[in-house]
Amino acid sequence: MAAYIPDEKITAIKNASDIVDIISEIVSLRRAGRNFLGLCPFHAEKTPSFTVSPDKQIFYCFGCGAGGNVFSFLMKHGGLSFPEAARALAGRYGIDLPTRNLSPHEKKKLTERETILTLNGEAMSFYHKCLLSEERGKQAMGYLLKRGMTRKTIDEFKLGFAPDGWDHLLRYFRSRRKPVEMVLQAGLIVSRKKGEGHYDRFRNRIIFPIVNGQNQPVGFGGRVMDDALPKYLNSPETPVYNKSRSLYGLNRARQKCRETQTVYVVEGYFDMLSMHQFGIENTVATLGTSLTADHVQILKGFVGEGGKAVLVYDSDQAGIKAAQRSVAVFQKGLLEARILVLPKGHDPDSFLMDHGPDDFLKAAEQSMGMISFMVESAVEKHGLSIDGKVRIVNDLKPAILAIGDPVARSLQIKYLAERIGVDETVILQKVRRTANPPAKTAWLSGRQDLNTAPKPAPVRGETYRLERQVVAMMLQFPEMITDIERRRLMNHFTDPLLTEIGRGIIDHFTRAGSDIAGLVSRWEDPEKKAVVTRLSLTDERWARSGCMNLINQFEASIRRRDKALLKRIEAAEKSGDEILLAALLREKQHQARKIKEKQSGANH
Ligand code: UTP
Ligand code: MN
Repeated sequence: MAAYIPDEKITAIKNASDIVDIISEIVSLRRAGRNFLGLCPFHAEKTPSFTVSPDKQIFYCFGCGAGGNVFSFLMKHGGLSFPEAARALAGRYGIDLPTRNLSPHEKKKLTERETILTLNGEAMSFYHKCLLSEERGKQAMGYLLKRGMTRKTIDEFKLGFAPDGWDHLLRYFRSRRKPVEMVLQAGLIVSRKKGEGHYDRFRNRIIFPIVNGQNQPVGFGGRVMDDALPKYLNSPETPVYNKSRSLYGLNRARQKCRETQTVYVVEGYFDMLSMHQFGIENTVATLGTSLTADHVQILKGFVGEGGKAVLVYDSDQAGIKAAQRSVAVFQKGLLEARILVLPKGHDPDSFLMDHGPDDFLKAAEQSMGMISFMVESAVEKHGLSIDGKVRIVNDLKPAILAIGDPVARSLQIKYLAERIGVDETVILQKVRRTANPPAKTAWLSGRQDLNTAPKPAPVRGETYRLERQVVAMMLQFPEMITDIERRRLMNHFTDPLLTEIGRGIIDHFTRAGSDIAGLVSRWEDPEKKAVVTRLSLTDERWARSGCMNLINQFEASIRRRDKALLKRIEAAEKSGDEILLAALLREKQHQARKIKEKQSGANH
């Protein structure tokens, strides 16, 4: 897998990277003792249990059990392969990786994703150059300037132009001997319906590159410059482009989102660009799809604990519908959202161009909480006749039920009652009568999303607890490893996973020193990664005397186990229970054999 990145490069990357650095670009972290704490990007939570250790260079979420080192984080969060994660880190820390002089064999090994990213990068430059070219880009540049885009915005967002014609990009790639098959996979060209051959997907359109967290273009949007349809054309989903995780402008929004703990979510390319141009940089756009649970998790990472999203929608029916759909997604994702409905006929872009940023921010202060927004749109829809009021309450039931905090819920009920002139107790009754069974609404309790909530740990006994503690001790107080080896404690472990991990620790630490982040790389299995990171971050203060105590306890428990077995054997002998006796003797033999096997295994 990593064949084309030499091992010493991986080591260099590992040594150069700082996990806190990398993760804090995605998750808002705060100091908590020796570690950092933030909201987990892998499951919905309101109180942070996602822990990052700068000393050990690992992360672990006490909520959902995800854990690993900096590579595992990038792989899990960005959906990257190991070489991609390594390359991303190398790029960031200025470590040169051999790319130019790859052998044909190694070249083949470049993953499909990396090839597509490279092609997208070249397409982005191609389109951008076309826009800047005097003759070719004249009309397109004119269009952008007419729409109020500045040169700075055009450069920063690498806006481009796909020239009119069927194969400008295709010919460009051909002349550079790029594999047509991969250009097709990147979604940049399309197969002819009839006969053979391909043609450019984007023709005579303004191009908006959509970039990922590493600033690599993953897809494109293209707008016509007249009233032709479709107005916007977008890249299809490809191995690098996942619409339900991408947001336009995400990379540029990060810093300001942190600072303001607020993110504005708009609908269109130009909306995002105008917001940015007017200095409201904490803005992302959803690109014609509705907001997904993944989007919400990503945004949560940006605004952090106590942060909020402000959804800015058109006041047309489609905009209202979109806002209503999003409300549920935000409630599920446990991120506070407010809704800003702009005056009729305006989207953020046209509003800013007409009124400027001060008026926008003033309007944003008037943004509504989710429930008030739902109430207002229901009032608008149904009116305040008796029949209308019944419908309004019906419409709002699910949203009110979804409020986890009982105080907030009762305030909202009160608000609804007053707004539509219905007695509070009547609404209360109505909402209660249709309450879902608790299992279905557990996520509404405000603590955890059921779908991603961790499985309850199986009940395990004293032996398992001691084994876990011994492993935690090896991880956190590696000085004890020689004692553990000498006393052959590992031979008495019963839990297979802990046994494997324990042996792995001994093997790794005796060769590489107590390098936990490196140890994590040994295993692909996420459960092993999780156990290792978890046990590396327990709260014990280890000292040699305490460690010896634990070892003694562990040995005592082995002796107890043996003694108990012997006692049962004696009893079976006394009572003449031949069958039981045979079974117990088999068990004893089995134990002896296991210890022997483990001993010879350990001597490898
Ligand atoms: P709008 O139709 O509101 O356009 O679509 P807009 O963003 O205001 O664009 P301008 O100002 O007319 O140039 C909102 C968003 O929906 C997606 C695009 O992402 C667009 O920015 N969309 C719209 C499409 O993907 N395809 C379409 O045909 C139209
Ligand atoms: Mn617009």
